[in-house]
Amino acid sequence: MTAGDAGPDTSSPLLGDHVSWQLRRLCAAVGLHDVRALYAALMRELLGPAAAWPVGVTPAWRSEVSDDHTPVEYSISFDMGRTPRLRLLVEPSGRRPDLWANMQAGLQVLDLLADRYHFSLDRLSMLQDLFFPRRPQGSFGLWLAAELGRSGIPGLKLYLNPAVHGPDRAWEVVGEALARLGFGDGLPSLLGYGVPRDRQLDRFYIFSLDLGSPWGRPRAKVYVRHDGFSAAEAALAACAVPGVSPESIAQFCELVGGPGPFTGRPLISCFSFVEGDHERPSGYALHVPIRDYVEHDREARDRAAAALDRYGFDGEVLGRALAGLARRPLTAGVGLMSYVALVCNPRPRRMTVYVSSEAYEVAPPRSLLVLLGAAPPGSYRGMARKQAVVRDGQHAGVAPVTRMEPYRIKAVEPIPLMTRKEREVALAGAHYNLFDLRADQVTIDLLSDSGTGALSAAQLAAAMTGDESDAGARSFHLFRAAVQELTSCEHILPVRQGRAAERILFTTLLEPGQITLSNTHFDTTRANVELAGGQARDLDSLAPFKGDVDLEALEHILDAPDRDRVALVIVTITNNGGGQPMSMGNLAAVSRICQERRVPLFLDAARFAENAWLVTQRGPEFRDWSPREVAEAAFRLANGCVASMKKGGLVNMGGFLALSDEELARRCELLFIATDGSPTDEGLAGRDLDMLAQGLVEVTDPDYLRARADMARHLADLARAAGVAIVEPPGIHAIYLSAERLLPHLPPHWFPGHALACELYLEGGIRSAELGLLYVGEEDGDAERLVAAPYQLVWLAIPRRVYTQTHIEYTGRILARVAESAERIPGYHIVGSPAVLRHFRAKLEPVPIPPSRLVDRHLSCHPDEGARNPARWGRPFCSVPTGTPRAVPRGASHHRSTPLHLAVSCYLVDRDGRLLIAQRAHVKATGASVRTNSCCGHPTPRDPCANPYAAMPAPRSVWMSRARP
Ligand code: F0G
Repeated sequence: MTAGDAGPDTSSPLLGDHVSWQLRRLCAAVGLHDVRALYAALMRELLGPAAAWPVGVTPAWRSEVSDDHTPVEYSISFDMGRTPRLRLLVEPSGRRPDLWANMQAGLQVLDLLADRYHFSLDRLSMLQDLFFPRRPQGSFGLWLAAELGRSGIPGLKLYLNPAVHGPDRAWEVVGEALARLGFGDGLPSLLGYGVPRDRQLDRFYIFSLDLGSPWGRPRAKVYVRHDGFSAAEAALAACAVPGVSPESIAQFCELVGGPGPFTGRPLISCFSFVEGDHERPSGYALHVPIRDYVEHDREARDRAAAALDRYGFDGEVLGRALAGLARRPLTAGVGLMSYVALVCNPRPRRMTVYVSSEAYEVAPPRSLLVLLGAAPPGSYRGMARKQAVVRDGQHAGVAPVTRMEPYRIKAVEPIPLMTRKEREVALAGAHYNLFDLRADQVTIDLLSDSGTGALSAAQLAAAMTGDESDAGARSFHLFRAAVQELTSCEHILPVRQGRAAERILFTTLLEPGQITLSNTHFDTTRANVELAGGQARDLDSLAPFKGDVDLEALEHILDAPDRDRVALVIVTITNNGGGQPMSMGNLAAVSRICQERRVPLFLDAARFAENAWLVTQRGPEFRDWSPREVAEAAFRLANGCVASMKKGGLVNMGGFLALSDEELARRCELLFIATDGSPTDEGLAGRDLDMLAQGLVEVTDPDYLRARADMARHLADLARAAGVAIVEPPGIHAIYLSAERLLPHLPPHWFPGHALACELYLEGGIRSAELGLLYVGEEDGDAERLVAAPYQLVWLAIPRRVYTQTHIEYTGRILARVAESAERIPGYHIVGSPAVLRHFRAKLEPVPIPPSRLVDRHLSCHPDEGARNPARWGRPFCSVPTGTPRAVPRGASHHRSTPLHLAVSCYLVDRDGRLLIAQRAHVKATGASVRTNSCCGHPTPRDPCANPYAAMPAPRSVWMSRARP
């Protein structure tokens, strides 16, 4: 990198430095190496005092030259038969900028330049009183543009405001200016074609004049803004110029801006007059404000490139120029390319692409603007919606008639079918730890969805073409492009799996004692935060998107005095504690909160595609988005991500770290090289990278995601039908069974989750994983509990594309069988355990259930006999049920306030005929610790209380379960 290419000075960034740096890069892109210092100096001259404005603070003058109010815009003009030319447009500013001061500053610099470059200001003098009144109105007075040639002598143009006397007089000003310049009869044709509608809708916007020697035939140009014009209306406006083909204008408009109508920033017509033109202008240009009609700048660039190609211009320069200018991926913002124009006189001769400086601000991609409610009323979303509907047309709104896997099977793998006896031996041999079973002892393996998926034929084909070169492998470039496109991040490091990316990121970014915030940290994420000396805190919120971050808590922590301790926020999409998605609204809000407070936001994107699918299903505003669109929008909201691609990449091994910040990426890369290898060829094998790139294409396929979600829903339905409570609503990658609800006879320290998992294996060879005390709890050497588990769950993870509906139904049947005799399932206790991650290596043994727990539960319920007495129906309050010992305080508060309702006595008898009596909890307000089989019916709002006995006329007797022989 030469000295001239060094980035803008970021220690004290001033507007002059920033734009000079950009201009040098652009000069290099169009081959103006020799004169770039000269033009950088010209830029500073044109800017005047604005060159010394810091770019970190709001500009002193809200220039209309660009959306973020940078008073500079560049353009590259592609002419038939000429090399592309660079131009710049500047709004000169006064020391104390206002409309008048800026005009004066502009006129002064113009005088200076006229002197230096020997051009006449006569034509301007003729218009002086028209455009420079003492009390100017409007948003600008004078803009200066320079066309930068190889000679070092710029061609100058000036832009004047026809509405400087007020918008109502703009047409008078234009008419008079044209007349003074010798185009006396021009106005009627402009009014007829260019301003065909109400003058509020078609407004004279700019009057421009060419100055200086490089212009062969200096032009006067009139620009008109057309609110809400369609491409067809633009074509009609072009008819002001004899010989212009309206079709080519409409085609260009649609090619660059889409179908319209252009209800965002308006289309602009430009009519040009040269010497000899009297009644009609001889040139027409249509300016399409492309930034309002695309998702992001890459789309804008692609459209402009297509248009350049169409007209036979060489678009390569544009790519070079944008690459030189942008300090961010093109997908990370919109507005870098502001306008694309086609110039016809009368045949299409030139295309110009206008490029913003973005010195102050980068507008986020349009989908994010929509999310944040800040989108201008452009028609982009409408277009995207149409495209989505067309793309998914055959599915839109049509529920699948048959649940069917959207693939057929090319390679099969036998699954072990064993007897219960064989499984009992196998499990005992594995010390009752399912992780220690051999996979060939498992019939249906639902232990993990990570790295367990099936590869597609296309992935296997990609593997065959994998490039294993030692450096610069094609596979790496393919992989990097695929990840960049998805994540909008420029810097990509391939890793073996997710936790490797976590280690690199946290080791690089975290200082000891710092905090990371999340909806839920996955356990390896938490472990890596802690290994780097940090603390991981979860801020999960409740329904409807249970993966959402509690925004209030987030703001509270980030606004606290010790907020500097927070190193980063990392959100897991979807979370792994239920497979719960994060909503886009919540993610956008987290992103905004983090941006405002300059805290980097990362995604744990292992299951990004499933999150995207659930967003399209649960968020009504995303119903007609494709999962890929949602996923891309989610990535754009963050500064980077760690991603285990063993899930969302549909590969058996692989992952990546994606970052948009160059400096952070550089630091991570140093660590990566020391511990993992060279990023281009060592992180993963070439064939792995190829398969991953292909997997990223397949994983957001709506057919695949729909079928996967259907499979999860089917399994959830089967679990519910079997009477097994699950975490609701179910996610996609796994179903979480509630072991504590199914096995209430097992206290937590007998590991009910583990007990259920073992039973599923014994009953049907199904391997699952416990998520309860064994997994998260901790005990000391004497088995005293140190950390309790908040839940006792079993997860049935669903590998991707591996099992069919029949396998799922088999699993459902096994679940039902296990639930039928749940009370017989024994608990477990640990007989050997490693210090950390005990669930992987612990040795366990079943705990025999004492016979008294093995009840053949015969439950009979009897309504309160006293309630039969009609005399009591008139009493407003609850009576103490029959059978209640005398000691119970009759005036207890809940009896005073509760209407009369039913009480019941329950008799629970075990199979030996013994009556089991319950003991009330010690903390009860009434009847604490009392042994009784009577209880209060506690009416719900719809229960009939006046005659509660009528609600339950006869005693009921129920068999709670059947004993196994
Ligand atoms: N983040 C999430 C949300 C995960 O679920 C995992 C892994 C990781 C990060 C770490 O990725 O395994 O590639 O190093 N989950 C696996 C599972 C272990 O079975 O759910 P990794």
